Amino acid sequence: MGANESVAAIGVFDSGLGGLTVARALMQRLPAESLIYVGDSARVPYGPKSPDTVRRYALQIGQWLLDQQVKCIVVACNTATAHALPLLQAELPVPVIGVIQPGARAAVRATTNGPIGVIGTAGTVASGAYTQAIHDVANRPLDVHAVACPLFVPLVEEGWTEHPATRLIAHQYLQPLRQLQVDAVVLGCTHYPLLRDVIAAEMGDGVTLIDSAAETAVEVATVLTATNRLAAPETVPSHRFVASDAPKHFLELGSRFLGQSLGNVEHHVFT
Ligand code: DGL
Repeated sequence: MGANESVAAIGVFDSGLGGLTVARALMQRLPAESLIYVGDSARVPYGPKSPDTVRRYALQIGQWLLDQQVKCIVVACNTATAHALPLLQAELPVPVIGVIQPGARAAVRATTNGPIGVIGTAGTVASGAYTQAIHDVANRPLDVHAVACPLFVPLVEEGWTEHPATRLIAHQYLQPLRQLQVDAVVLGCTHYPLLRDVIAAEMGDGVTLIDSAAETAVEVATVLTATNRLAAPETVPSHRFVASDAPKHFLELGSRFLGQSLGNVEHHVFT
């Protein structure tokens, strides 16, 4: 590994805007690191798409990020992690980090004795990836109940994070988890941290909500340290944001997810 790998950027990708919540956590945890963020706005959402399709998209973006000389790749999308992480790790010659393993670890730490709830897209829930990861991490038997919440993504994209309709839908989706008296819920989708207040109100006190983003940033820091790829602390980072469609729209809505302006969004079509 050469010296230039420490100054290279971290590649981050998601199906669209939501992964900016992960970029935000990375910027907080690793302020000297530069990011190249790809939002696949032309093909969002990944949640209802077949595993093969999501794998194809993920590999295209991963290969493009490699062409940009990134030193590692963060799969910020839960659905892409669920379907494509092993493929990306096998095919790409840099560390590839997903959001599911870190989220699973945090859930196992947070729970007393289960059950653990997981909420995500239809694809993430159908894959069983969180349930598997939690069972792999836990050294004790834990019940895991995963619930798909497909309407949450469009509600967040619409900016309806406090809307009465969102509260009604959350009430309906989360009912099984309330009945099971889960003590931790994994927010297993990029968009759900923006619904934290609504979800917390539905689940009530005593239920810990797990945001995979912060946990993933910790994991990225660990991997960069272990592989001697960390940027020097005095480095002034520069970030690039790339959207596969409607970059102006991406720029306008992105700040809601990133917590600050994106400054500029480039356009790139993945084929
Ligand atoms: N980024 C996706 C995820 O975290 C949510 C949006 C989508 O369905 O593409 O699963």
